[in-house]
Amino acid sequence: MTADEVVFFVNGKKVVEKNADPEMTLLVYLRRKLGLCGTKLGCGEGGCGACTVMFSKYDRFQNKIVHFPANACLAPICSLHHVAVTTVEGIGSVKTRLHPVQERIAKSHGSQCGFCTPGMVMSMYALLRNKPEPTIEEIENAFQGNLCRCTGYRPILQGYRTFAMDGGCCGGKGGNPNCCMNQKTDHTQVTHSPSLFNPEEFMPLDPTQEPIFPPELLRLKDAPRKQLCFQGERVTWIQACTLRELLDLKAKHPDAKLVVGNTEIGVEMKFKNRLFPLIVCPAWIPELNLVEHRQEGISFGAACPLSLVEKTLAEAVVELPALKTEVFRGVLEQLRWFSGKQVKSVASIGGNVITASPISDLNPVLMASGAKMTLASQGTRRTVRMDHTFFPDYRRTLLSPEEILLAIEIPFSREGEFFSAFKQASRREDDIAKVTCGMRVLFKPGTTEVKELAVCYGGMANRTISALKTTQKQLSKEWNEQLLQDVCASLAEELHLPHNAPGGMVEYRRTLTLSFFFKFYLTVLKKLGKADSKDKCGQLDPTYDSATLLFQKDPPANVQLFQEVPEGQSAEDMVGRPLPHLAASMQASGEAVYCDDIPRYENELSLRLVTSTRAHAKIKSIDTSEAQKVPGFVCFLSADDIPGSNITGLFGDETVFAKDKVTCIGHIIGAVVTDTPEHAQRAAQAVKVTYEELPAIITIEDAIKNNSFYGAELKIEKGNLKKGFAEADNVVSGELYIGGQEHFYLETHCTIAVPKGEEGEMELFVSTQNTMKTQSFVAKMLGVPENRILVRVKRMGGGFGGKETRSTVVSTAVALAAHKTGRPVRCMLDRDEDMLITGGRHPFLARYKVGFMKTGKVVALEVDHYSNAGNTMDLSQSIMERALFHMDNCYKIPNIRGTGRLCKTNLASNTAFRGFGGPQGMFIAEHWMSEVAVTCGLPAEEVRRKNMYKEGDVTHFNQKLEGFTLSRCWEECLANSQYQARRSEVENFNKQNCWKKRGLCIIPTKFGISFTLFFLNQAGALVHVYTDGSVLLTHGGTEMGQGLHTKMVQVASRALDIPTSKIHISETSTNTVPNASPTAASVSTDLNGQAVVKACETILERLKPIKKKNPHGSWEEWVKAAYENSVSLSATGFYSTPDLNYSFETNSGKAFHYFSYGVACSEVEIDCLTGDHKNLRTDIVMDVGSSLNPAIDIGQVEGGFVQGLGLFTMEELHYSPEGSLHTRGPSTYKIPAFGSIPIEFHVSLLRNCPNQKAIYSSKAVGEPPLFLAASIFFAIKDAIRAARAQHGTYNMNELFRLDSPATPEKIRNACVDKFTTLAVTGVPEDCKPWCLRV
Ligand SMILES: Cc1cc2nc3c(=O)[nH]c(=O)nc-3n(C[C@H](O)[C@H](O)[C@H](O)COP(=O)(O)OP(=O)(O)OC[C@H]3O[C@@H](n4cnc5c(N)ncnc54)[C@H](O)[C@@H]3O)c2cc1C
Ligand code: FES
Ligand code: FES
Repeated sequence: MTADEVVFFVNGKKVVEKNADPEMTLLVYLRRKLGLCGTKLGCGEGGCGACTVMFSKYDRFQNKIVHFPANACLAPICSLHHVAVTTVEGIGSVKTRLHPVQERIAKSHGSQCGFCTPGMVMSMYALLRNKPEPTIEEIENAFQGNLCRCTGYRPILQGYRTFAMDGGCCGGKGGNPNCCMNQKTDHTQVTHSPSLFNPEEFMPLDPTQEPIFPPELLRLKDAPRKQLCFQGERVTWIQACTLRELLDLKAKHPDAKLVVGNTEIGVEMKFKNRLFPLIVCPAWIPELNLVEHRQEGISFGAACPLSLVEKTLAEAVVELPALKTEVFRGVLEQLRWFSGKQVKSVASIGGNVITASPISDLNPVLMASGAKMTLASQGTRRTVRMDHTFFPDYRRTLLSPEEILLAIEIPFSREGEFFSAFKQASRREDDIAKVTCGMRVLFKPGTTEVKELAVCYGGMANRTISALKTTQKQLSKEWNEQLLQDVCASLAEELHLPHNAPGGMVEYRRTLTLSFFFKFYLTVLKKLGKADSKDKCGQLDPTYDSATLLFQKDPPANVQLFQEVPEGQSAEDMVGRPLPHLAASMQASGEAVYCDDIPRYENELSLRLVTSTRAHAKIKSIDTSEAQKVPGFVCFLSADDIPGSNITGLFGDETVFAKDKVTCIGHIIGAVVTDTPEHAQRAAQAVKVTYEELPAIITIEDAIKNNSFYGAELKIEKGNLKKGFAEADNVVSGELYIGGQEHFYLETHCTIAVPKGEEGEMELFVSTQNTMKTQSFVAKMLGVPENRILVRVKRMGGGFGGKETRSTVVSTAVALAAHKTGRPVRCMLDRDEDMLITGGRHPFLARYKVGFMKTGKVVALEVDHYSNAGNTMDLSQSIMERALFHMDNCYKIPNIRGTGRLCKTNLASNTAFRGFGGPQGMFIAEHWMSEVAVTCGLPAEEVRRKNMYKEGDVTHFNQKLEGFTLSRCWEECLANSQYQARRSEVENFNKQNCWKKRGLCIIPTKFGISFTLFFLNQAGALVHVYTDGSVLLTHGGTEMGQGLHTKMVQVASRALDIPTSKIHISETSTNTVPNASPTAASVSTDLNGQAVVKACETILERLKPIKKKNPHGSWEEWVKAAYENSVSLSATGFYSTPDLNYSFETNSGKAFHYFSYGVACSEVEIDCLTGDHKNLRTDIVMDVGSSLNPAIDIGQVEGGFVQGLGLFTMEELHYSPEGSLHTRGPSTYKIPAFGSIPIEFHVSLLRNCPNQKAIYSSKAVGEPPLFLAASIFFAIKDAIRAARAQHGTYNMNELFRLDSPATPEKIRNACVDKFTTLAVTGVPEDCKPWCLRV
C-alpha cells in the first residue's frame, strides 16, 4: 500500500505531512516539527490540560463547523486529516497583540510559573468560540480537564469571570453581589485597594475578529472521501470511509485495533508499552456517527463523542417528560464527573464500552438500564441488551474478534421506573471512580411492589457487574425499610473483594456499594412521595433529605484585601503595588521559553534513564543487546563511563549510576542515548537487568523495627518533662501519620547539556532551583574544575522544592552523555518517571504524649517524630530539624521534648517540599491540641487561644518572639469569618441533617524564616547599566513562578529610582552570580533583594558626583556621563543574614531571622455516606509585612493554601508492599483541581505590620501559608465527630484517629454507622495488601 498524505491546518497555515507516523502525537509534531512550543507537555495522558489546543472541522453529520478543545498529547496526527488546529500561538502574541483571553489571565495574576497557562488559555478560547458570553458554570466546567499547581485557581476564574454574562465585573454598579468593587472598605474603615486588577483595562472580546475556518477545508465539505493509509516505522493506520470497508478490514485483520478518540489506546501505547501494528479509524463512517431518536430510546453511533451524547441527552431532558428521562439523567450525572472537555470532545461512547474497563462510568449505567448494543461484522448484524454476560472477563466483551460495536441505544424510562447513577472518586473532576454504579427499579403499575430491580457496579470486580443474587430476591417485594435491610445484607455478602484487590480500599469500596443503594432507596422514596402523596411505603425523614441531593456547587465568591500604598508614594515607585508577574503575558501567549522549548540543536541526542525495578537487590547483569537494535541507538551509559567520580549527593551517599546494588525502585542504573526521545524510550525498555533480591525496608515501621536510620537522634528539650506530666490533670497519648506528597510541578525535570569542545567546558540548561549544586555535581562527575561548567536557568514550570536537589540526578546523567558523545543531549522526564525517581515530601509518623490542665492549658509535651527519608539522606536532616522547630506551632509549652529520626528505607529519596518539614511538625501539634480541647470538653478555638504565645515569649528553642502579630491575625480572622455566629449555624445544620455534617475550624501558623543551615543565608546580585540607561539585573535566585524576578525588578526600580520598564532580568547563571544558594526556604526575596539593593547602592554611589554636577538631569544623561567619565556601571552586591547561630547541643542561639504568621478559618460539609466533602468557605489573614507586591503575595497565599489542601485532604501516594509506586500520573494521583478550592475564599493581608528585618519591610511568603490548609482537615474532623455522635455509640468527647490526608475513604470509614459495620471484613494474617502506608 502506498502511504497517503495527512493534510491539516495549524493556525491558518496548511501542513502537508507525507510521512505521517501513526505513533506520533500532535504535541510532538507541533513542538518538534513545527517549532510551536507554546503547547506544553505536562503528563502525556490527557490528565493535566497543559497541551490543550482547539480543533475545528466541518462536521458532515451535524452539517456545520464545530470547534472543540482537545489534548494534543493524545491526538495522533493521522487523525487530523482535514482538521484545523489552533494553538496558543495562533490567537495572539506579545509581539503583535494579545488575545483578550491571554491578556485577562495575565493581568488577573492567573499565571505564576505559566506552564499550565497556554492550556488554560486554549480551554477558555475554545469555550468562547462556541459561546462568547458563557455562564460562570460553563467557565468552571471548561476547566475540568486543566490543572494548575501554582495559583490555587481563584485568579484564573476571577479573571475569566469577566467574560461571563452572569458574573463579570459590574464596575461597582451593584449588579453582582460578588463584585470586587463592593470590597472597597472593610469594617475598620481602612481603605484597601479595590481590586488586584482593573477589568476596565481589559480589551473587549470581539468574536468577529477570530480567524476564519480555512476556506480550503470548507470547500472540501461535500467532496467524496476515500480510504487513507498512513505507514509509520511500526504501525499502519487505515482511515475507513464506509461501514463495509471497516467490516471487510476487520474480517481480514481481526487483530486490528479500532481507534476513535485514542484516549484509551494512546495511553496504553505511551505508558504500557503496547504496540498495535494495525490501527483502523472508523471516525468518518456515517453509521457510526448517527444519532437517532427511536421508539424506545435514543441510539448513538459508537463513534459519537461523549460531548455529543451529553448534549443530546441534556436536550432530551429539557424537551421530554421527566418520567421518560430517568436513565438519561443518570448518564448525564456520570458524564458530568467524567474527564475534562478535551477528552469528552474526542472520546467515543463505543470506546468506553469496548475498553471494558472495570471502572468505566458508563457501563454500569448502560447495564442497569438494559441499553441495546448493535454489533456488526461482515454480513451479520445482531442486537443484544447489555447485561451481566456482556463482559465475560477483565477487559473483555462478548464481541467476536471480527465484530464491531455499531450503535448503543439508551432507553427511555417508563411509568413507575426510577433510575440513579452514583460515582465516588478521590476528586470530583476528572477522576476515575473508586466505585461507580447504575441502579434501576420498575414498580408494578400503581404499586410500590418491585417488578424489576437492577443494581450494577464498576470498581467491585475485574469487570462491570450486576448484583443479580441480591436483586432477584427483591422481586415482588415492597419498597420499604425491610427491603433496604435485605438488599444491604445481601450486597455485603454478594460483592466480594479480595483483600489485595487492585486499587485497595476494600472496606471503603464495600461500604460505598451499600451507601449508594441507601441513597437510591431514599431518592426513590422521595420521588414516590412527590408522585403520590399517599403514604405507600413510608415517608422520607426530613433529616434524610439532604442525603438524596446530588453534588451541587454554589457560585464562587472571593474577596482579596490588601493595604494600598501610602498616599504620596510616587506613581513610578512600584513597590507595594499589584504589578502582574513580568513574564505573565509571554506565558499566556506561549512565547515564554522553558527548558524543553529551547530549539533543538542540529546534532542533538536524547537520553532516557534506565531504572531499577527492584527495591533492594544486587545487580547481576545488564544486557543491552536488544536496546542496541532500536533504530537511532547511540550508546548505553553506566557507572563505568564516568571519567570523574560516581559519588554524588549532598552527603556523598549517592551515586550517579547504581554500581552493584540498587536501593529503590526507580534507582538510576544507567541511561540510553539515541536520536529521538521515542527511540530512547523503546531502547530503555529493551535494556534487560537481572537482579538478586535482598530484603527491603519500605515503611517507617519496618525501619523502626530494623533500626534502620540515618545519623543519630535529633532532639530539642526544654523544661522538666517529668514534673510537667506529674502536674497535669490529664494525659493523652497516641500516634499519628501524615502521608507524603508529590510535587507535581507541571514541568517535569529537564536538562540540555551542550559540550563546548574546549578544555572540558560544558553549558547546561536546567530546570533547577539550585544552579550551584548542579554545577558542582557535574564538575565532580566529569573530573573538571567547576569553572568549566556553566549552568543556566531561564525559568521553571514550578519547583516547590522538588528541583532543589533532585534535579541533579537528571542533569548529571545528561552531562555525562554530552561528554561521552561530544554532542548536545536533552532529557525531559516523562511524568511517570519523574514521579517514580525524584521523591517528594517526607511521610511522618509521630508518637506523642501531651499533659494538660482541666482548663486546657498544656503543661507537658513529648513527641517522637519519624520520617521516611528513602534511600539517601538528601535534605532529610534539615527537614526533620524544621519539624522539631515547628512542633509547638504557635503554642507555649513549658515542658517539652521533641525527637526526630530519619528512617532509611528502600524508597526513592524524599526531599524538600514547600514547608520543608514544618507542616508535618505543625500538623501533629494541631492534632494533639484538638485532642486536648475534646478531652476538656472546651471549644477548640478557646483552648488554642489560651495556649498561644504572646509578644516577648520564648519558644522551646529559646528564641524570643518579637513583632508577634499572630494575636492580631487571630482576632481579625475570628471577626472576618464571623466564627461564633457560624459555629451555631453549623450546629443547627448538623441537627437538621442526618447524613451530611458540617465542621468549622480556625488554625494559626507561625513559620521561621531562614535556612536552618546557616551559611546558606547568603545571596549575590550583579547589576549592569548600559549606555542607553537600560539595566540588566542578575541575582542568584531562580524564577519558578513565585514572582521573584518581578519583585527584584520592583526592588531595583525603587533603589535606582527608575521605572521598572528600564530593568530586565534575563536568567540565572553560574557565570554571573557564583555559589548561589538554592532558591528555597522562602528567603529568596529577602536575601536577593538585599543583595540587589547593595549592588544598586554601589552604582548610585558612583553616580553621586555626576548627579551633583547635573542635579536636574535624567537617568540616561547621568549614565552617559558616567560612561564618558570612565565610571564603572557594573556592580555586584552581596548579603548574608546576620546573627544566626542556633546550636542543637545547647538549645541556644538564634535559629530564625524572624517569623511569618497567619490564621485560617475553614468550614466544610461532608457527605457521611460517601466520604465526599465540600470546602464551603475559608478566611485567611496573613502577615506578609509591608507587601512588596500584594498580587504576588496573595497568589502565594492562595497557591500555598491549595497545595496544602491537597496535602491534607486529597493527595495520596500508593506503594506496593514491594516498594513500587502505583501512583505515577494524574490519573492515579490527584492534586486539587478548580472545583477543589473553597467556594468562598477570603484572603486578607494584615495591615500596618512593617517588618524591619527584611527588604522594604516585607516578609517571606512562599511556604508559611501552606499549613493553613490544616484548617480544612480539622474542620472535616469536626464534622466527622458530629456524624459519629449521631450514628454510633460514640459521644462528642470521644477521641478518634484520623491520619492525613482526609480522603473520602478515611472520612467515610471514620463516619462509623450500620453500613460500615456491614462492610467490615477480617483481614487474614498472611494477606499482602495492594498498597502499604509507607
Ligand atoms: C484523562 C482521561 C480521563 C478519563 N476519564 C474517564 C472517566 O471519568 N470515566 C470513564 O469511564 N472513562 C474515562 N476515561 C477513559 C476513556 O475516555 C473512555 O474509555 C473513552 O470513552 C474511550 O473512547 P476513545 O474513543 O478515546 O477510545 P479509543 O482509545 O479510541 O479506543 C478504545 C477501545 O475501544 C475499541 N473501540 C472503539 N470503538 C469501537 C467500536 N465501534 N467497535 C469495537 N471496538 C471499538 C478500540 O479498539 C479500543 O480497544 C478517561 C480517559 C482519559 C484519558
Ligand atoms: S500533557 Fe496532555 S493532558 Fe497533560
Ligand atoms: S501557573 Fe499553573 S502550573 Fe504554574
